[in-house]
Amino acid sequence: MTPATERPARQELRKAVDRIHWFHRIDLGDGIVTPGDDESPRKLESLGLPASLSGKTVLDVGAWDGFFSFESERRGASRVVAVDPECWRPPDWGPGGFGSRAGFDLARRALGSEVEDVDIDLLDIGPESLGRFDVVLFLGVFYHLPDPWPYLDRVASVTAERLVIETHADFLDVRRPAMAYYPGTEIDGDDSNWWGPNAALLRAALLERGFSRVEVVHQERYGYRLARAARGRLRGGGLRTQQGRLVVHGIR
Ligand SMILES: C[S@@+](CC[C@H](N)C(=O)[O-])C[C@H]1O[C@@H](n2cnc3c(N)ncnc32)[C@H](O)[C@@H]1O
Repeated sequence: MTPATERPARQELRKAVDRIHWFHRIDLGDGIVTPGDDESPRKLESLGLPASLSGKTVLDVGAWDGFFSFESERRGASRVVAVDPECWRPPDWGPGGFGSRAGFDLARRALGSEVEDVDIDLLDIGPESLGRFDVVLFLGVFYHLPDPWPYLDRVASVTAERLVIETHADFLDVRRPAMAYYPGTEIDGDDSNWWGPNAALLRAALLERGFSRVEVVHQERYGYRLARAARGRLRGGGLRTQQGRLVVHGIR
């Protein structure tokens, strides 16, 4: 689809932003930041993305409102492609069903962005259908997949240089490859959360898929996890200090 480039007037934009349930917090300029539930700028800091993506091609898998697609473009990427069939096709995705592509479309227009969108099933992603990309972003998706391995195969197959995986994680103090399974709604009361891998598991999985090197770029520190677990305990949850967020890069 061709990105729309005409920026709406400020008042009109404000009203349009207010009509959407946002996931990402995107700075649209003129003092308008989309009121997403996600702490997107903080997540961005944890990703270890190169400050300049000048001349790079980027694929954002599971882009939702597009915060990381637009950020890649801002960092100079020559081409950015965003895909998110689960969220962008009806019915709306997520707890309570609030994920749609309305946010992506509006933000792209407001930013005058040239990020491309492609409507494709994630299992149809491959070098033949999409080509290869220097950088592939697989952020916040892995743990939502009941059977993540075929999806990891697909995103690995289109990565020319660097695959960035950001995920909920578990067994963070375990050195051997391990992954927790969550039937039901154990994580955040959300039945779309299935798995919590640890760093050793993702390292092994990426090396098996032909990456020459794996960097663990971010793993939430114990003190932070303990504080969050204690807050969860006060609200009646279990004390789960082994859980947190994790970012790994697979390097070709
Ligand atoms: C937590 S959001 C992450 C959005 C964004 N990548 C980020 O990191 O902020 C989860 C994303 O995973 C996608 N997703 C969830 N379950 C999926 C599934 N079964 N198949 C494909 N995509 C899925 C959703 O559409 C959504 O975009």
